[in-house]
Amino acid sequence: MKIKVKVSRFDPDKSPERYFSEYELEVSEGMTVLDGLIWLKENADPTISFRYSCRMGVCGSCAMMINSYPHLACHTQILEITKSVLVLEPLCNHANVRDLICDFSAFFEKHRTIKPHLLREDAEKLDLTGEISQTPQELESYLQFSYCIKCGICVAACPTCATDKEYLGPQALAQAYRYTQDSRDAGGDKRIEAAAEGHGIHHCHYAGACSEACPKGVDPAFAIQLFRKQMVLRSLGLKETRPPAGEMPPMTLNPKPNIPKPPEPTIK
Ligand code: FES
Repeated sequence: MKIKVKVSRFDPDKSPERYFSEYELEVSEGMTVLDGLIWLKENADPTISFRYSCRMGVCGSCAMMINSYPHLACHTQILEITKSVLVLEPLCNHANVRDLICDFSAFFEKHRTIKPHLLREDAEKLDLTGEISQTPQELESYLQFSYCIKCGICVAACPTCATDKEYLGPQALAQAYRYTQDSRDAGGDKRIEAAAEGHGIHHCHYAGACSEACPKGVDPAFAIQLFRKQMVLRSLGLKETRPPAGEMPPMTLNPKPNIPKPPEPTIK
């Protein structure tokens, strides 16, 4: 089956205007948008610019607007979206720098604001070769939110990000909850401070568009609600603050493991 593909083009060195280039593409069952783009670049127009790396929904670099909705190009089959016209544009709410490529500097700056790593005062005293204990229930309480691949799709779908460029955004806020909820962390107060000030968590309208669009099922809107609940409970003194989880005792390995000898070779 042949379909029409319209690709948004932009080269600020040549013109400040965006325009569409149109191509014809032979589509087969199972072909992804990324497969189609790679075919077009190799066979029709080598100047089309887009980003990708893993081709398997892990690196998050191929996110773009596909028929006006944010998706991962490598995770979206063309025939599931359209049988006639495929329109490809750069992600909304991110600065477009070339064709389908966006600049993620502001996105990662916001992510950095909420301190996306474990924070604890005793970090220097810990034996970094050991393990910190965590029960399966403690892991379960944040695991879903740790699946974020930083593709920027939730920000592209968010109506608040569309109107407020300073808003921290669903990705950063969901990760603020993910690390605060981690039983190995003790930096919740610092993250709450970062998330509450300026254009932070209180600007979320709970539209839920971020959770609907997320290709990894992270559900940032739910994380934001849980984080907000935690903020309110802490401010009222109703949330017990716990010390971060401690180290596990070192594991003792059998110094001489009983490994059976391999059989003698039958051919010398
Ligand atoms: Fe890595 Fe699509 S290429 S997520």
